[in-house]
Amino acid sequence: MTDINETINLMMKHTSVRNFTEEKIKDEDLEVILKAGQAASTWKNFQSYSIIIVKSQEQKDAIYQYQPQKSIKNAAVYLVFVGDLNRAEKAVKMHEGDFQPKGIESLLITATDAAVTGQNVLLAAESLGYGGVMVGLIRDQSAEISKVLDLPDYTYPLFGIALGRPARINKVKPRLPLEAIAFKEKYIEQTEQVISDFDEVQDEFAGSRRLNKWSERIVGQWGVPEITSSTENLKDKKLL
Ligand SMILES: Cc1cc2nc3c(=O)[nH]c(=O)nc-3n(C[C@H](O)[C@H](O)[C@H](O)COP(=O)(O)O)c2cc1C
Repeated sequence: MTDINETINLMMKHTSVRNFTEEKIKDEDLEVILKAGQAASTWKNFQSYSIIIVKSQEQKDAIYQYQPQKSIKNAAVYLVFVGDLNRAEKAVKMHEGDFQPKGIESLLITATDAAVTGQNVLLAAESLGYGGVMVGLIRDQSAEISKVLDLPDYTYPLFGIALGRPARINKVKPRLPLEAIAFKEKYIEQTEQVISDFDEVQDEFAGSRRLNKWSERIVGQWGVPEITSSTENLKDKKLL
């Protein structure tokens, strides 16, 4: 039997935290958390992301004004993960190269770098007894958030992480069965049955709290045209 060690146990008991106590995060804790984040894998070690550490109530409120999620306002610290080719531009210029940051591949590189770093940050914070939630909906107001944070050309906001000491811990949410997302050797397309089975699992988990089914919430995301805020902002920042 595989040893469910401390690390795996921490990962498996992850649950997003959106309600925090008044307690601050110690500076030395935050530094360790961020350094653990930096230790994540990164494309060619280019580290194409930045993190804006938002601690002041003024800046939290400025972000909250555009994306009113309580977790942002009440977090001890709000970290904004930024896809970042601004340093890359300087490196290319330094070598008198022709900087060409526009395109999907650049976005995939910067987004995956920031995402794996963010996951490391969240796990490190959880290991110290803090909790948090990623907030991707800040992209609904990409231009406004970029302005609040003074983001320069070749950068864009990707997601935030609200961190703090948990005031309430939710139950661990169910996931799809492993065999519905991990396939042996080749892709196996799944049937609608898998989806409706998971709707039931989710309904049972949510009890009376959830009105929409899991699959209906997917329609809310992919059954409608995508938001244009990110695309417009990426064009403005010369990345598309
Ligand atoms: C990239 C990303 C963006 C997210 N954005 C939000 C968000 O804007 N607001 C929110 O409340 N939760 C957000 N979440 C948290 C998810 O809703 C949550 O992880 C998911 O429902 C699973 O729940 P769990 O983390 O408690 O297991 C985000 C998660 C990820 C990975």
